[in-house]
Amino acid sequence: MREAGERIAALTCYDASFALIEDRAGVDVILIGDSLGMVIHGQNSTTAVTVADIAYHSRAVAPHLKRAFLVADLPFLSFATRERALDASQRLMQEGGAKMVKLEGGREQADIVEYLSVRGVPVCAHLGLQPQLIHKLGAFKVQGREEVAAEAMLKDAKILEEAGADMLLVECVPSSLGKRITDAAHVPVIGIGAGPDVSGQILVLHDILNISPMVTVGRKPRFVQNFMLGAPDIESAIRAYVQAVKSGAYPAPVHCF
Ligand code: KIV
Repeated sequence: MREAGERIAALTCYDASFALIEDRAGVDVILIGDSLGMVIHGQNSTTAVTVADIAYHSRAVAPHLKRAFLVADLPFLSFATRERALDASQRLMQEGGAKMVKLEGGREQADIVEYLSVRGVPVCAHLGLQPQLIHKLGAFKVQGREEVAAEAMLKDAKILEEAGADMLLVECVPSSLGKRITDAAHVPVIGIGAGPDVSGQILVLHDILNISPMVTVGRKPRFVQNFMLGAPDIESAIRAYVQAVKSGAYPAPVHCF
């Protein structure tokens, strides 16, 4: 799709009912995100999510996908060593039915990415804001604003792709950096709060339906759009999201940094 110039519409999903709807609505990539810790379990971060949790939700989603490509998150510390990363990936692919795993981190994860990749595990490397680092960062905030940090992230992206990453995900960075990373990469770059000039967009399902704990208490991240507005039902809202990504209508300047 990247080569064909077709924008990729990605969305998180955690259960069978939404899997059927998202697949039917034309979502290209479905992520079993560790955001489930926040939107399903009601925690205030993703750090308590386990491999068992991701495998459980992945098992609920995978059998219902006819065309969407399923990616599953490697949760906090589950990829801290090569062995743990391989065991967790094996579980998410064999038990959970995932076709790719996603892990957060920059060049410090290149060794793990390579270890998994050469063993047949497709990997998406998640750069920019890494929610699993919340207790180090102190807050969810835009990353790569300074030129030195932007250069470092660009280098991370190149190193991770060379290590074997088949996809990159970039969260909460200035649009100019989203574009630089996409221009430099050869694999698809999926953005969330990374501007319009990437290969595709991802959002959290509960955010676009305006029902996540964050949005209901009025703390809506800048890049979130409520697709329920004007939609008669949930499936129409998800279709509207897919269409907005494909046409380039989402993200608008108001969603970007
Ligand atoms: O866990 C998650 O939902 C994510 C986002 C990028 C959507 O990683």
